[in-house]
Amino acid sequence: MSYDNYLIAKTMEGLEEVLAKEISALGATHIEIIRRGVKFRGNKELMYRCNYWCRTALRIIKPIAEFPVRDQESLYDGVRKIAWEDYLDTSMTFAVDCITSHPELSHSHYAALKSKDAIVDRFRDREGSRPSINTSGPDLRINIHLSKERCTVSLDSSGSSLHLRGYRKTGGTAPLNEVLASGLILLSGWDINSDFIDPMCGSGTLLIEAAMLALNLPPGHFRQAFGFEKWKDFDPVIFNEMREEAEDKKQRISFRIKGYDKSPEAMVASRQNIRSASLHKLIQIEKSAFEDIEDQTGPGIIITNPPYGERMEIDDIISLYKSFGDKLKHSFEGFTAWVISADLDALKHVGLKPSRKIKLYNGKLECRFVKFELYKGSRKEGKTEVRSPKSEDRRPK
Ligand SMILES: C[S@@+](CC[C@H](N)C(=O)[O-])C[C@H]1O[C@@H](n2cnc3c(N)ncnc32)[C@H](O)[C@@H]1O
Repeated sequence: MSYDNYLIAKTMEGLEEVLAKEISALGATHIEIIRRGVKFRGNKELMYRCNYWCRTALRIIKPIAEFPVRDQESLYDGVRKIAWEDYLDTSMTFAVDCITSHPELSHSHYAALKSKDAIVDRFRDREGSRPSINTSGPDLRINIHLSKERCTVSLDSSGSSLHLRGYRKTGGTAPLNEVLASGLILLSGWDINSDFIDPMCGSGTLLIEAAMLALNLPPGHFRQAFGFEKWKDFDPVIFNEMREEAEDKKQRISFRIKGYDKSPEAMVASRQNIRSASLHKLIQIEKSAFEDIEDQTGPGIIITNPPYGERMEIDDIISLYKSFGDKLKHSFEGFTAWVISADLDALKHVGLKPSRKIKLYNGKLECRFVKFELYKGSRKEGKTEVRSPKSEDRRPK
């Protein structure tokens, strides 16, 4: 693919396939899955569209140059040769990020500094002045990727990471990343036509992402800005049309989106976030331990992210997962339940036979996203139950 027309969407490990589906639905061609990303062909309009519509993308970057690199001199020369005046002028600010697996240039900070010097020196020589650096909110974020002996230079069209949707006011305890939350919902295969429940909703991320998906509200709806809006070639007409067109695509929904949490702090956080996303008429939340939720009848889906146990005693975690499994069996007939957890041992104590397990990462934490079918009749003892290992089995030896 030539540099004029290819883009890379970055995501979290395990979400590449769902992201590729999203990008394909937006009209991209020549889609190729890479590690923690998707490469595809697309023009400026598609780049805006992916930023605005992809629920599982962290960033959309646009490669502008690629060259072989042996050492710091060849990195400097290669970066300096790029026609930076096409992308930057001296009144603009920029920042350089670097990711490296290059054997000779293993210090990403140093490689970023060298690249920055090359850009600045080119401007100084040609124009006598230079654009300034701004690492927190630059007009142009430049991405240097050094692999083995090659350097790819890209422009970051998103600016800040796309998980920053713009609705979050409060984090609460260990909130899920919004991109991961959306990825879980899309992976679950929810039909977007039956009840959605998170019985340990924390700050409400899964509920909000589910509601936005169901309403067909773009994940970029609440964002204040995208990186590409400050680019020299920004076309506001294309972007405004895209936003207006999204208004016409909104859907109505006729099922429940409901969250519970036993913590008063979680209630405050989820209430604030839901209100900030103007979804308070659609999402119901209730302060309740999951143990006390009234019996419900499916069809419906439960997607939840119970505590992982970093702040809890092993026995407490085991009994929490065990009670949760019991609750699923006894109160959610006809539902499908999905649980994400980094505590792979605790997951076994749910005591139900998983029908699917997906390996994912929550940041650096390896997790499993596990599916349990709560068939009608599973209330009867033994139907879907599997023996749980004894809690002693997982005590540190
Ligand atoms: C990892 S957090 C969930 C984070 C959430 N997904 C978010 O994005 O903010 C786990 C939540 O489970 C809640 N919790 C723990 N035990 C519970 C119980 N027995 N009933 C209901 N909620 C519980 C905690 O209060 C906490 O908010």
